[in-house]
Amino acid sequence: MLTLATTIADRHFKTCLMNAAGVRCQSDRDLNALINSNAGAYVTKSATPAYRAGNPEPRMKMIPQGSFNSMGLPNNGLDYYLDFVLKDQAKRPDATNFLSIAGTSLADNLAMLHQIQDSAYNGFVELNLSCPNVPGHPQQGYDFDATKETLTAVFDFYTKPLGVKLPPYFDLAHFDQIAAVLNQFPLTFVTTINSVGNGLIVNYETETVAIKPKGGFGGLGGASVKPTALANVRALSQRLNPSIAVIGVGGIMSGRDAFEHILCGASMLQIGTQFGYEGTKIFDRVAHELDDIMALKGYASLDDFRGKLKTIN
Ligand code: DOR
Repeated sequence: MLTLATTIADRHFKTCLMNAAGVRCQSDRDLNALINSNAGAYVTKSATPAYRAGNPEPRMKMIPQGSFNSMGLPNNGLDYYLDFVLKDQAKRPDATNFLSIAGTSLADNLAMLHQIQDSAYNGFVELNLSCPNVPGHPQQGYDFDATKETLTAVFDFYTKPLGVKLPPYFDLAHFDQIAAVLNQFPLTFVTTINSVGNGLIVNYETETVAIKPKGGFGGLGGASVKPTALANVRALSQRLNPSIAVIGVGGIMSGRDAFEHILCGASMLQIGTQFGYEGTKIFDRVAHELDDIMALKGYASLDDFRGKLKTIN
């Protein structure tokens, strides 16, 4: 029997497809739609300690190659999401989901993690070290020392399963450096990649930027970022301790994209831009397409081809 099931640490997921943080996961309505879909799990919108309105609009634009955003972390605050996942956990104790947090300071991240540690929550936490859209706050994943400092402080007290959401890296030396930092900690997973930060979309006719925040600079997602995402999934899979699962995100629109991410080493797949455009039925479509590809190639499970991308000698 062909299966898209996957396992991260000791947690089992009936399929490897889920949403990416930020897309259609801000309200309980969004999250309930995910629960009622064929996604294998959901991740909540990255939370800050309190409600945040985010950046001024317009702050998101659909582009032919994908999406462009500078949302600026609009969210309902950690209490809201923690309450949601706790209630869901009580109803579905066997389902593991992801609570995303994105403090804009180390103190905020530690305060939120203390609150989660002290709660009954036993799911995964995805610590977002890569939001490109908060004015004045660089993406922490690009600062290797700051990332090490954060993880040292986190694992000083935090004992539940935790992973980090990384920005895309573009240099082999940077893959080496971030992996050397991450390998020092008992991480359960890394999620790669966040949007490709600080792109610029220009309206040729009006000679104007496309979005208001940060003078028009914003994060790119969707089809155009797939090669970057695949490279990050592959490079990190090759460098991280085998106990750290890699969750692939970036440019997944079809079963073939999903297949390629797994071939590069992904254990779970998050869909952002295209889930935003298509809604929860995307999890059925991509699952069917991936099923068909696996059947055609004679693969019965993800383990048959995960990480087995061939190089040319
Ligand atoms: O592209 C992104 N947009 N990545 C994030 O991590 C946060 C989000 C936002 O709210 O700006």
